[in-house]
Amino acid sequence: MSRNELTDGEAQSESESNGDSLITTDVATTGTRGHDGPERTVVETRDLDVYYGDERAIDGVSMEIPEHEVTALIGPSGCGKSTFLRCLNRMNDLIDVARIDGRVTLRGVDIYGEGVDPVALRRKVGMVFQKPNPFPKSIRENVAYGLEIQGYDGDVDARVEEALRAAALWDEVKDQLGESGLALSGGQQQRLCIARAIAPDPEIVLMDEPTSALDPVAASKIEDLIDELVEDYTVIIVTHNMQQAARISDQTAVFLTGGELVEFDDTNKIFENPDDDRVEDYITGKFG
Ligand SMILES: Nc1ncnc2c1ncn2[C@@H]1O[C@H](COP(=O)(O)OP(=O)(O)O)[C@@H](O)[C@H]1O
Ligand SMILES: [Mg+2]
Repeated sequence: MSRNELTDGEAQSESESNGDSLITTDVATTGTRGHDGPERTVVETRDLDVYYGDERAIDGVSMEIPEHEVTALIGPSGCGKSTFLRCLNRMNDLIDVARIDGRVTLRGVDIYGEGVDPVALRRKVGMVFQKPNPFPKSIRENVAYGLEIQGYDGDVDARVEEALRAAALWDEVKDQLGESGLALSGGQQQRLCIARAIAPDPEIVLMDEPTSALDPVAASKIEDLIDELVEDYTVIIVTHNMQQAARISDQTAVFLTGGELVEFDDTNKIFENPDDDRVEDYITGKFG
């Protein structure tokens, strides 16, 4: 799928005339954080502010998030991690008092630009929440949901199976696809929600504390799964569990109270030798 699917008819024909250039234009490569070779930015924010009424929750955040890696967002409760995550697929649009300033681009396309359809965007940037939230529908219908609103014209059952396999759930549910998603265990429900998010073949999967409502075994299955998902997707995960961030992420962004991004770097660097004293204090548990 291409970025063109984000836009309505008019913008789409314009972007089609650019061929693939719209997809790659403005996509910076960065190699400055010590990875092997250049990496491609999939989503970028520039001077992003978010307000709820008069209260600022995100303060001037500029960030380039590389594709096919796990980026963890950490920081004390209330520092704006969920707010930031929701900016990346325009979920904040659904909050009346929320207002954003600045720019968010997906492969160079301004996702708040004219002609961008938020529903199409949310298929490209799927989301998984803290509390598993399957629909009160069958397992199959849960996964097929995004395909159906998209008017998917391929083999829905084949795609449902593919998504359930990718979410490491197929073997456990293949004989009960018609049963309610709500009958599954918490960990299975969360993998079902991951299958639902990836069925439309997104670019990015956002996860907001996806394991904090799960027991340790179920949580560890999700961590293993995230490791596999980054082969095909970019994963951006909020976690309040620093050990989890250290285990599963390639880079870590540390937000602190007031919605400021204090440091964003390779996970090893953040945990072993951060530049900012406040990050060091946070990591070592002096506050937060
Ligand atoms: N829907 C909302 N309406 C008003 N204020 C909100 C809303 N959601 C979050 N906030 C406020 O924005 C700040 C950041 O919240 P949040 O993004 O949930 O932080 P975190 O996920 O890091 O705990 C907090 O001060 C919170 O009270
Ligand atoms: Mg949160």
